[in-house]
Amino acid sequence: MKLLVLNGPNLNLLGVREPSVYGTQNYEELVRLIEAHAEACGVSVQCVQTNHEGVLVDEIQRAYFEGFDGIILNPAAYTHTSVALYDAVKAIGIPTVEVHISDTENREAFRKISFVRSACVKTIQGHGFQGYLEAMDYLTGEVRK
Ligand code: DQA
Repeated sequence: MKLLVLNGPNLNLLGVREPSVYGTQNYEELVRLIEAHAEACGVSVQCVQTNHEGVLVDEIQRAYFEGFDGIILNPAAYTHTSVALYDAVKAIGIPTVEVHISDTENREAFRKISFVRSACVKTIQGHGFQGYLEAMDYLTGEVRK
């Protein structure tokens, strides 16, 4: 089983960026955590971070062309703006879990809107880095069903 983990804009600044919201661990630590969990689950994982919306679309399409089984997607700010990401997830039909480190429901009103949500099989938010591991557990359970 092959999973793609996509992180959007400003998530490369984890650890620096609003630590009271996103915690003090950096992006490399997040990747290490995800890779360790994947290894324990016997899953192959690739992690990509980009600040560019079009690159996220390209990566979602790559998941289709390269036969990935699932996507863990934190589109960051593009969650609240991007029809292109919604269309991409809809187009490929690969089970995708939307993850947010913070609890977007209890922040600014504009964060309550998620364009990608209805194209995703599940949303996990407000569980910090753990949310990515929960998403992996969910996807491995779904695909192995
Ligand atoms: C985020 C929440 C978004 O609202 C925000 O724009 C981000 C990160 C999260 O992981 O909590 O950049 O997706």
